[in-house]
Amino acid sequence: MVGPMSMSGARGLGVAQGFGVDVGGSGIKGSIVDFGAGTLAVERIRIPTPQPATPKAVAEVVAELVGRFGWAGPVGVTLPCVIKGGVAKTAANVDPGWIDTDAASLLSRSLGDRQVVVLNDADAAGIAEMRYGAGHDRLGVVLLLTFGTGIGSALFADGILVPNTELGHLEVAGGDAEDLAAASVKDNEHLAWKAWAHRVTTYLRAVEEVLWPDLIIAGGGVSKKADRWLPLLNVRTPVVAATLRNDAGIVGAAMAAAQGVQP
Ligand code: BGC
Repeated sequence: MVGPMSMSGARGLGVAQGFGVDVGGSGIKGSIVDFGAGTLAVERIRIPTPQPATPKAVAEVVAELVGRFGWAGPVGVTLPCVIKGGVAKTAANVDPGWIDTDAASLLSRSLGDRQVVVLNDADAAGIAEMRYGAGHDRLGVVLLLTFGTGIGSALFADGILVPNTELGHLEVAGGDAEDLAAASVKDNEHLAWKAWAHRVTTYLRAVEEVLWPDLIIAGGGVSKKADRWLPLLNVRTPVVAATLRNDAGIVGAAMAAAQGVQP
């Protein structure tokens, strides 16, 4: 099936379970996903990301991970890259060898030529949050932002994903937004919550200059501590914490694979 990635599409997944893999800078995590509950059906497995995280090395780890579950069906895989027709077009926080790699074909081959859908990590987290989490049944313009090593974005209009928005790379205060306000910057520069929230406010106001979202969902590891920083933001758009936490990428990847929609 080819068509836009949507909440309503997700409802018609047609199968009870799927499999998702989330490729991050430090870990590659995967599990079987229960589509009824929108949760992991079994405990996930995490394998450290090989360094350098070349396409070949990552493909081997993905095959090992899927094999450990004995899963034989379609597999969805996230990458921190723009993905066009299954091909990675950027590699901001991952090995540059991914650029122009046909990730969908490579991963399909490493998994015995089965159906594989590859999508941007924030887009995967977004489709999961829109179906099962903080964006459930939300129409209008909804923006999910993931604050981690970088800043990822997933934009929805009435539940339909606009893929590869890359709003983490807006130019803000003369530099790349994610160099200003990613969660990793808070750690690296030892910023207190207040100082970091001030930077996030600067960033969100830049986003608000070009978009008028009805809702912003804040995801990434720092969403666990949302009470420490969301109340400190000073922006016009309501901002809520993502609810699926670390599993959103895995769940969204599995949904995309079940839908068979390759962005
Ligand atoms: C990348 C995005 C990715 C985000 C979160 C950014 O640096 O450009 O593609 O979604 O990091 O991993």
